[in-house]
Amino acid sequence: MAFSVVILAAGKGTRMKSSLPKVLHSIAGKAMLQHIIDTVTQLGADNIHLVYGHGGEQLQQTIVHNNLNWCLQAEQLGTGHAVQQAAPFIQDNENVLILVGDAPLIKASTLDTLLKTKHDADLALLTVNLDDPTGMGRIVREGDAVKAIVEHKDATAEQLAINEINTGMMVMQGADLKRWLQNLNSNNAQGEFYLTDVIAMAANEGKIIKASHPDSAVEVEGINNRQQLANIERAYQWQQAQRLMTDGVSFSDPSRFDLRGTLKVGLDVHFDINLIVEGNVVIGNNVTIGANCILRDCQIADGAVIEANSIIEQAQVGENCSVGPFARLRPGAVLHENAKVGNFVEMKKSTLGKGSKANHFTYLGDTEVGIGVNIGAGTITCNYDGVNKSKTHIGDGAFIGSNSSLVAPVSIGKNATVGAGSTISKSIADGELAIARGKQRNIEGWQRPVKKS
Ligand code: UD1
Ligand code: CA
Repeated sequence: MAFSVVILAAGKGTRMKSSLPKVLHSIAGKAMLQHIIDTVTQLGADNIHLVYGHGGEQLQQTIVHNNLNWCLQAEQLGTGHAVQQAAPFIQDNENVLILVGDAPLIKASTLDTLLKTKHDADLALLTVNLDDPTGMGRIVREGDAVKAIVEHKDATAEQLAINEINTGMMVMQGADLKRWLQNLNSNNAQGEFYLTDVIAMAANEGKIIKASHPDSAVEVEGINNRQQLANIERAYQWQQAQRLMTDGVSFSDPSRFDLRGTLKVGLDVHFDINLIVEGNVVIGNNVTIGANCILRDCQIADGAVIEANSIIEQAQVGENCSVGPFARLRPGAVLHENAKVGNFVEMKKSTLGKGSKANHFTYLGDTEVGIGVNIGAGTITCNYDGVNKSKTHIGDGAFIGSNSSLVAPVSIGKNATVGAGSTISKSIADGELAIARGKQRNIEGWQRPVKKS
């Protein structure tokens, strides 16, 4: 059956103490509202109505979805009033799934179960039992039957003892919802139009009300302050680490891992502590990542070893390569199989051929390095003249002596040799040796200066 979704996201989120609307604060690098929209999109909703209030412009700039119906709630008069803003767009014969914008860990499977619960009921509620239900709406039952939701501030002492709470997520028929919304009033402790009042209306009409539950309470936990934001972030990262372990990754410590994007992994991958993975990252089989690395939009092939404190961004690391410690692979860095990049080496838009090595203190920018090349310690490609970038080519089997500057555009032939300490500004033919450094003079009998009295 067709269904639409209404997401309530007009609240200001005062307790975040932020100029950013609450629902734009991110979990794993993505706005919490975007998490919910992405989850709902997976479910195949026909329409998504987003009730917004504060920070509309910021929301519209940030949230990515090609077909959101933006419903402004200019004044926040309560959750019932919020849903009223979407009512004109709701069809009588569709199911309406109502969600809150500040519980980003809700799973598609949980919402699917909630929608299925509605199949043999008139109204389906997502509820959960909490040890401490303080502040939440309580589910009031008579026997098994749900009769009402009572808000914490309106509850009697007896009702306050109820542990089953309203998550704010529910499904009902469009026609019912619209009829009940018309009958809401604000005669309650907060002077608000409560969406939750529709439950008693449904019960009074003799409607069948059923509840389903999430796998875990963290899925429905709302975020109101930065402490809760941090807690939900850790809970989410823990879940992701668990999934990766199921997929064959072992962690030195799964609680010190952050994935802000998507990660595909092969078998027998090991992550040391404090790894941050961002964007889209693909890692092959038997890859080891050392402590404190950042991987962003990159591919790392089978058998590669990434040593500690390396940063790899928009780069490709081939099979059995070795990178780091303290290496930086910037956009366009490509390492072919068995290549090695050691400590304090930076690469940008550069290719290192099969088995080539740049082991110490080197900058390679806009450079093609062939097969089996040795780049000595402290080699710098001078690719920028202050205005333009130029390219360097280094042929197969070349040997670049330590502390050399290669002033681009320049080409080093196959099996050519550059003497240590050279500044190379003219191309070198295959097999040649080039030395471009001050000639050494040794002065015999040299007397050191003496201190003047
Ligand atoms: C609401 C429920 C409560 C439930 C709790 C779960 C009501 C009356 N109470 O309480 O039963 O246990 O959620 O978290 O529904 N919002 C608007 N416009 C408004 C008011 C709220 O869009 O005028 C949005 C908020 O942005 C938020 C959601 O609705 O995403 C819930 O609002 P919030 O103020 O957090 O509701 P609670 O009072 O906590
Ligand atoms: Ca509130």
